[in-house]
Amino acid sequence: MEMMMRRLRLAFVMVLMIMVVMHSASTVVEGCSASDREALLDFKASLNEPYLGIFSTWSGDDCCSNWYGINCDPTNHRVADINLRGESEDPIFLKAGRSGRMTGSISPSICKLDRLTTLIIADWKGISGEIPGCITSSLLSLRVLDLVGNRLSGHIPPSIGNLRKVTVLNLADNDLSGELPASIVQMSSLMHLDLRNNRISGQIPSDIGKLTMLSRVLLGRNQITGPIPNSIATIYRLADLDLSMNRISGSIPEQLGRMPVLSTINLDCNSIGGQIPASLLSNTGLGILNLSRNGMEGSIPDVFGPKTYFMALDLSYNSLKGKIPTTLLGANFIGHLDLSHNHLCGPIPIGEPFEHLEASSFDYNDCLCGNPLRTC
Ligand SMILES: *[C@@H]1O[C@H](CO)[C@@H](O)[C@H](O)[C@H]1NC(C)=O
Repeated sequence: MEMMMRRLRLAFVMVLMIMVVMHSASTVVEGCSASDREALLDFKASLNEPYLGIFSTWSGDDCCSNWYGINCDPTNHRVADINLRGESEDPIFLKAGRSGRMTGSISPSICKLDRLTTLIIADWKGISGEIPGCITSSLLSLRVLDLVGNRLSGHIPPSIGNLRKVTVLNLADNDLSGELPASIVQMSSLMHLDLRNNRISGQIPSDIGKLTMLSRVLLGRNQITGPIPNSIATIYRLADLDLSMNRISGSIPEQLGRMPVLSTINLDCNSIGGQIPASLLSNTGLGILNLSRNGMEGSIPDVFGPKTYFMALDLSYNSLKGKIPTTLLGANFIGHLDLSHNHLCGPIPIGEPFEHLEASSFDYNDCLCGNPLRTC
């Protein structure tokens, strides 16, 4: 009995070993397309990553197994993901005790990886050169294009609109210039658009409302001119709009205040004028509104209510006149309020939220008075 058990166990172990050997033999045969492997090696050759040694894992025939940051589609063994992040908690980073840095450029050879769905080359700080234009004709399966935090320059490829499946386009924190491509409104799957902190100029396309899937539009810290298009207010999933630190002019579309899930609006540091739409201040879903450093005129609409809940309401550095709205007294919550550097006048209302605010929230107006400023 004992003997038989032992034989059975041995046979079982042998079958298992044969299976493992057969499996690894098969992955060597069909592990990685030879042309994908060539393309990856060309891509690697134009980059220099001296601190972590991630590219030392890019050796051997099978680019689908154990090549750092590479994943293949198991059904066709084509490279599906390049996921290279310079900031990570991966063991390779913990061992090096530092974040990554890479220099060099993104080789157009990545365009041969025509089954790529994810291209993430993020936060390497030193990768320069242009975004290869060929991606917009070759990488039509892309869903995520994330090149944040490098030193990429030149223009956003004009035919970026061909990338109809892309849901995340993040090119923030680079050195990109040129105009926002008009074709961007063709990217019909786009949910997250982040181009912050570049040198992008031109106007926001007036038909941006075509991008109905958008939930975040982050274009802050660029050189964008022209108005906020009215059509933006038709993007009903929009939650976060950041157009701060640009050269945007015109007035704020009234419909912006009627958007169902918009919770953050940063328009600070632009040349926006006109009056503050009452709809913006009465919108109970809006938690952060920054209109600081613009040319807003007229009085502050007195339309706050018991459901008003602003974590931050910054209207400083404008040309607002008149009194502080008394309906603010009934607000559910006002965390940070800044009305400084305007032309407001009259007594500061008594009661919450004004009890907990400091003088800096009211300084540099024409004739405000009362606590926390001088008595009236
Ligand atoms: C609003 O924007 C201004 C100017 O960019 C900035 O200094 C300020 O901190 C912002 N306010 C809040 C509450 O974030």
